[in-house]
Amino acid sequence: MQESTLSVRRPPPNPDESAGDDESKTKKGSSFNCLSMHAAARSASGGAAVLLLLLVAVLLVSFLLVSRSRSASCSSPFDSLGSRMSLFGGAYLASDFGSLGVPWCRSKFGKTVEWTSKDLLKGLEEFVPIYEARPIKNNVYGMGFDHSFGLWFMTRWIKPDLMIESGAFKGHSTWVLRQAMPETPIISLSPRHPEKYLKKGPAYVDGNCTYFAGKDFVDFGSVKWEPILKKHGISYLSRVVVFFDDHQNELKRLKQALKAGFQHLIFEDNYDTGTGDHYSLRQICDQVYIRGGGHSCFKDSDEARIRMKRKKFWEKAVDIDELCGKGEAWWGVRGHMRDDFNHSNKAISYAEHFQNSRFVESVLDVYWELPPVAGPSLTHQTRYDPARASDPIVEDGRYGLFQRLGLGRLETSVFNGYTQMVYLRISAPTA
Ligand SMILES: C[S@@+](CC[C@H](N)C(=O)[O-])C[C@H]1O[C@@H](n2cnc3c(N)ncnc32)[C@H](O)[C@@H]1O
Repeated sequence: MQESTLSVRRPPPNPDESAGDDESKTKKGSSFNCLSMHAAARSASGGAAVLLLLLVAVLLVSFLLVSRSRSASCSSPFDSLGSRMSLFGGAYLASDFGSLGVPWCRSKFGKTVEWTSKDLLKGLEEFVPIYEARPIKNNVYGMGFDHSFGLWFMTRWIKPDLMIESGAFKGHSTWVLRQAMPETPIISLSPRHPEKYLKKGPAYVDGNCTYFAGKDFVDFGSVKWEPILKKHGISYLSRVVVFFDDHQNELKRLKQALKAGFQHLIFEDNYDTGTGDHYSLRQICDQVYIRGGGHSCFKDSDEARIRMKRKKFWEKAVDIDELCGKGEAWWGVRGHMRDDFNHSNKAISYAEHFQNSRFVESVLDVYWELPPVAGPSLTHQTRYDPARASDPIVEDGRYGLFQRLGLGRLETSVFNGYTQMVYLRISAPTA
């Protein structure tokens, strides 16, 4: 995907790239209707005036019938969401994605990821049955479907020799990493060992994983990586993937990873501006000079009006009152840099926030946000606001494709956890 596709409004994916396309069926239907109408009109022109009038009447009636049936066939099978969205002036489908602006981080040389939307679709088809066999069915407070897919897809693509995770909870993400790379060692850092959860219900403990957990817990930033990497036979840090789901300030984690020399990082909770319990990459990069970034706290602005409306429909949408703190501070969460599940938070000035973004840009080779797997009229998700997300992999209206990929077999709740998982490729800062 080109860097340009990371900006505010992305073009819909090429229908030729997908396994199937409901839209094309609709289009075929429409052109057939139009052709028959033209043919009827041609024959009418050669007839008598009465016949012509009669034909016009017949045409009118059939036109009305055709338009009614066409609109019926185009409507979403999930009309409740469709009708809720009609409150936004019928502009819900596709155009809603990114209508408020989707901030993103600038990379040093404009590079982007190798995988395409076609690869993502292929991956989805493969991943659904894997996910259905997951040992932890109820993973509230852990990853849902979108991010499980993202972690699996990216790890499998990168094919690392070592996988490191920080924040294991019951072990679902460890299991996902294992599905991506069946033979590759894992290092897992988490204050509570996943085996502790086994007493209460399903959990996953991996046989080829070194746990720094329980009494052996060490925070990622305090680990002496050199001897550990040597022990695992790692000579090239480009062969390691580090996955963070530990709700720590992502700027802090980025600096620690950079210091250790890691290059491939995946952050699970890349919270949007005004939300979440830690300072995230997306928050850091939400800057006025980025297309889709920066905010106005002016109560009479278009942004304020749009946000107020959207707040009524999406659980995590934020209105201007929530977005803006003292002194109209909108960056981070109301001008605060949160850390450690919001157990710590510090007010920062816009100048500091801006400096943080410049630092991030100076180390970024690639910034890629996983798109939502499917549009909300398909998944029924109510959490994230599509106006602040990039276009989904399976766009709204593509019900047939959604079903063909097996996504329709999954419970709705597994789609309710999307928070812009992000992949970063980093290297030492440029001057
Ligand atoms: C959201 S859960 C992780 C969910 C898990 N990745 C999954 O998908 O099921 C966050 C985890 O981070 C752990 N945690 C808290 N502080 C941490 C730290 N400093 N380093 C690593 N993990 C931490 C918590 O104990 C918790 O298990």
